[in-house]
Amino acid sequence: MLILGIDTSCDDTSASLLKADGERLEVITNIVSSQSEIHTKYGGIVPELASRSHMEMIWPVVEEALQGRSLDEIDAAAVCMGPGLIGSLLVGCSFIKAMCYARDIPLMAVNHLEGHLLSAFLDGARPEFPFLTLVVSGGHTSLYKVNDYCDYEELGRTRDDAAGEAYDKVAKLLGLGYPGGPVIDRLAKKGDQKKASLPRPYLPGSFDFSFSGLKTAVRLMHEKGNGISNEDIAAGFQASVVDVLVRKVKLAMKEHGIPRVSVTGGVAANSELRSRMQTMCDNNKAELYLPPLEYCTDNAAMIALAGYRRFLKDELASMDLNPKAHLPL
Ligand code: KG4
Ligand code: ZN
Repeated sequence: MLILGIDTSCDDTSASLLKADGERLEVITNIVSSQSEIHTKYGGIVPELASRSHMEMIWPVVEEALQGRSLDEIDAAAVCMGPGLIGSLLVGCSFIKAMCYARDIPLMAVNHLEGHLLSAFLDGARPEFPFLTLVVSGGHTSLYKVNDYCDYEELGRTRDDAAGEAYDKVAKLLGLGYPGGPVIDRLAKKGDQKKASLPRPYLPGSFDFSFSGLKTAVRLMHEKGNGISNEDIAAGFQASVVDVLVRKVKLAMKEHGIPRVSVTGGVAANSELRSRMQTMCDNNKAELYLPPLEYCTDNAAMIALAGYRRFLKDELASMDLNPKAHLPL
């Protein structure tokens, strides 16, 4: 069957066409229109501008995803209904509701986090259940035990800033624009982390995270100056974030006796995090599932996939579907 997925939860307008046949998946298209250029001069997302841009882009992006196919060829549709920016979510939800109502297409409402949790499967990977998933994005830093499709257990979450949010705020502080992750990733390669020694918020005894104190430590270090370059600060900050994420995943694998983990969400595109997770998993004889970069950052293919799993359980959305900014999984 052919599933059209839509994600407008934040600052990317995305549409994807997924072909699914039993367990066989084929991502036919995964179109993402980024708004980074609009938001970069503000050092963060401006929600009003994000919604307006989604309005402009939603049809061109869907049209590109369809690749000349008629809407009559679509068997089902899936839309992200939260969590996210409410004005942004409303655009995707209103669009898909109108389309599904007019064409009598079954609709599935998908939690954005469920999309990230399942994104490893988009690449053809088949992690055995149960496995652990670390979702590290601009909005979330959470560790889950994935027991099965549609069966998720949260082991820990951030108590304040998400890892990606910390990257973006540190980049803003250093005057590096938005989004901060990719630029800090690049800058860190030229810096010396030993010159910018920063705390590691491990929160022992818990799988929760906290990155807001680290962000303050970066601000104080930057204000003091002391000849520490932006490159060194980027390296020190990244080393701290990666140390914490890698150690927590290692502890969770041990405590739960599950030597399988996937790392997903925008921060999973980070080169240092990818290589350190790989080394840790190799050293611990664990399987690591790292989706390709296009499935780490926000994309509609993951929404189509999560929608497909809901479709198989007959969980269809009704036409009074309302998106929610804060939606637990
Ligand atoms: O998953 P995502 O696209 O959107 C949310 O659901 O939030 O994640 C976006 C986040 C941003 O904070 C961005 O700075 C971060 O992912 N990011 C990175 C990298 N690429 C994107 N963080 C660290 N290193 C990267 N290479
Ligand atoms: Zn996301």
